[in-house]
Amino acid sequence: MLLRYLTIAIVSAGALTSTGVLAQDVKVGLVLPLTGGLGPVGKQVQAAAKLYMDKNGATVAGKKIELIVKDDGGVPDNSKRLAQELIVNDKVAVIGSAITPGAMAIGPLSTQSKTANVVMVSGTSGVINPNNPYMVRTSFTLGQQSGIIAQWAAKNGAKKVVIIQSDWAPGAEATAVFTDAFTKAGGQIAETIKVPLANPDFAPFLQRARDLNPDTLFVFVPAGQAGTFAKQFAERGLDKAGIKLIGPGDIVDDNDLPGMGDAMLGVVTAGIYSTAHNSQANKEYVAAFKKANNNLRPNFISVGGYDGMHVIYEALKKTGGKTDGEALINAMKGMKWESPRGPISIDPETRDIVQNIYVGKVEKVQGELYSIEFATYDAVKDPLKMKK
Ligand code: PHB
Repeated sequence: MLLRYLTIAIVSAGALTSTGVLAQDVKVGLVLPLTGGLGPVGKQVQAAAKLYMDKNGATVAGKKIELIVKDDGGVPDNSKRLAQELIVNDKVAVIGSAITPGAMAIGPLSTQSKTANVVMVSGTSGVINPNNPYMVRTSFTLGQQSGIIAQWAAKNGAKKVVIIQSDWAPGAEATAVFTDAFTKAGGQIAETIKVPLANPDFAPFLQRARDLNPDTLFVFVPAGQAGTFAKQFAERGLDKAGIKLIGPGDIVDDNDLPGMGDAMLGVVTAGIYSTAHNSQANKEYVAAFKKANNNLRPNFISVGGYDGMHVIYEALKKTGGKTDGEALINAMKGMKWESPRGPISIDPETRDIVQNIYVGKVEKVQGELYSIEFATYDAVKDPLKMKK
C-alpha cells in the first residue's frame, strides 16, 4: 500500500522516465524587459508563458520544464550578459528573447553555443536571418502589418499621409514598408516624423503633423506607449481635426485600450491580434489570462510568449526530450498550430512566423474599447524576406 502511494506520488511529479531514472530538468531562460519604458512588454510575455505552463503542465517528453525569467530593463548590454549567464551557468536548453535590440544582442550567443533561441518579441525583419540558424520568431514583423494597412488606406480614400514613427529599427521598418506600398498605390507621404523611443512627448510632433494638414496619420509606437500617444492625440484635438488615424496593431494595444478614450473610436489598424478575436481558443485564452492577471487584457505581445512556449513544448515532444539546438530548431521548422490569434506557422525556410493579419476598427462593446476585426489576410509572410 505504502509503495503504491509512493509510486503515485513520484509519477505524478512527472519526473520519471520510462527506464525509471529521474529525468533531468529542461531549463528555459527568458530575457525580457520587465522594468523601464518597455516593462509592459515583458510583463505580458511573462504572464502568457506562465499561463501556457499552468495549462499544459510543467512536464514534457518526460522532462520537467524550469522557467527562469531575467529582467534586462530593455538594455541590450544587460540582455547579452544575462543570456551569457543563462547559457554558461544555468545551461538552459532554450533562450527566449524579447524586443529587437535584446534579440539582436543575444543572437550571436545562441549561434556560438548552438542554443535554440525563440524570439518572442521583435518586429524587425532582420532579427531572423541566415547567419543565426538557431533562431525562430513567434511574434510578428512590422512589415507584415504596414503593407496591408497602406493598401487598405489607399483603397479607402487616403491620399496625403503624415507618418509618426518611434525612432528605432521596428519603426524604420514600419515606415519603409508603409511608404513603399502607399506610394505604389498612388498616395503621397507629406512627411515622416521620428519620435525618440525613450520617454516620448508626442505633443510637438502631433502639432507638426496637424500643421501639414494630411487626411491621414500613420503611426507606429511600441507596446506600452499607445496610452500616452492617445492622450496627447486627443489633447491636441487631432481627432476633431478630421485626420484619420491608422497604423499597425501597436497603436490599439489591448493593454492600454480600455483607458485610451473615445478619441480612438474608428481607428483602423492592420494587426496580428485583438482581445476581441472571435474564436473559441481565444475566448478561453482571454478568460484564463484575465483571471490570472487581475483582469488585465492579453495583448498582441502576449501571444508571442504563449506561442513561444508552445513551439518549445512541441519541439521537445518531437525530439523525445533531446535538447540540442539543431534538433530543436529542426523540430520547430514548419510547425503549424492554432494560436489564440488564429492559425500560425513557422516558415521552414526562413524560420520566421507566418500568420493572418486582421484589419480592425476600434468600437465600443459593452462600454469598453476593442479593435473589432472586419477583414482577414490569410497566412501573411514577412514581406521583406520575400523580396530577397
Ligand atoms: C520590437 O522589439 O521590435 C517591438 C517591440 C514592441 C512593439 C513592436 C516592436 O510594439
